[in-house]
Amino acid sequence: MPHLSVLPLRAGLAALRLGQPALPGAAGDGLRRAASLRLRPAERPAEAAIDALRGRLRRSPDAVEVVDYGAGSAGSNAPERAVAEVYRRAATGPAWGRFLFGLVRGMKPTGVLELGTNLGLGAAHLAAALALNEAEGAPHGRLVTLEGAPKLAALAAGHLARLGHGVGDDDACRVQVVVGPFAETLGPTAAAEGPFDLVFVDGHHEAAAALAYLATLRPHLADGALVVLDDVEPGRDVRAAWDALTAGPGAPPSFYAGKYGLLVHRPDAPAEAADSDLRGAATAAARETPPLPTSAGDA
Ligand SMILES: C[S@@+](CC[C@H](N)C(=O)[O-])C[C@H]1O[C@@H](n2cnc3c(N)ncnc32)[C@H](O)[C@@H]1O
Repeated sequence: MPHLSVLPLRAGLAALRLGQPALPGAAGDGLRRAASLRLRPAERPAEAAIDALRGRLRRSPDAVEVVDYGAGSAGSNAPERAVAEVYRRAATGPAWGRFLFGLVRGMKPTGVLELGTNLGLGAAHLAAALALNEAEGAPHGRLVTLEGAPKLAALAAGHLARLGHGVGDDDACRVQVVVGPFAETLGPTAAAEGPFDLVFVDGHHEAAAALAYLATLRPHLADGALVVLDDVEPGRDVRAAWDALTAGPGAPPSFYAGKYGLLVHRPDAPAEAADSDLRGAATAAARETPPLPTSAGDA
């Protein structure tokens, strides 16, 4: 029997195979590739190295300082948490990591943004796929990942460097880790590093926050960019954001993958109207959905 965390993914992918509307363009290529969850021989070493990192984190005797950003953060108010517990509660698990890897392998993005680095597991899958794309002749792809807890960000940077990725601000590096609250880092980072072809929103799992971040990002998304929103299952706080974004005749092409919601950015929608729609939806979501009381671990 598959691990429980894989079941929503399998259900989402089964729905895709049963003929749910596919996403257009590169986003559709990514989704079709991600849906197989299969690895090609050339991809196995990179994914095996990430599996080995997972094993070390599961058994880690270390602790790390976290910062409580509410829902979606690394956890409670405790300034220090066991690394093994942070991994278990907050890191992207292997099946969803494989899904992210497949998205990048299929889409061949050059600009990827992640909100919420944590221990760097999602980033590891995204960066591994960028590296393989480049090795096969695709243009240099870069991941920018944002994290509010400095010690977590440093740990993640170390993990990514040990997996063989150049980590730093230089454009030649594959990964840049930006430290600070999203409210402070997202706007300047998006302006400096965008446009992005793929965005993974996996931190601060509150509906109003997600909508506000998307409004900030909108001018910095490439045509046909794919936005992946974590935690959109029914009953989760971010579900209200997903509902607001996917409702109505002008809604962008979207696909619900069981835990992740995938949206294709449509530049043809008038920017001002879309931004004010997002602001309106953010206000409504903030009124209707109280934040989750505890962290939203997503392993
Ligand atoms: C669920 S974890 C991210 C998991 C990671 N994306 C992965 O794939 O393994 C969420 C992370 O976002 C960070 N975070 C949450 N809210 C934040 C905020 N408002 N500003 C900066 N970082 C935030 C937390 O510290 C936490 O490490």
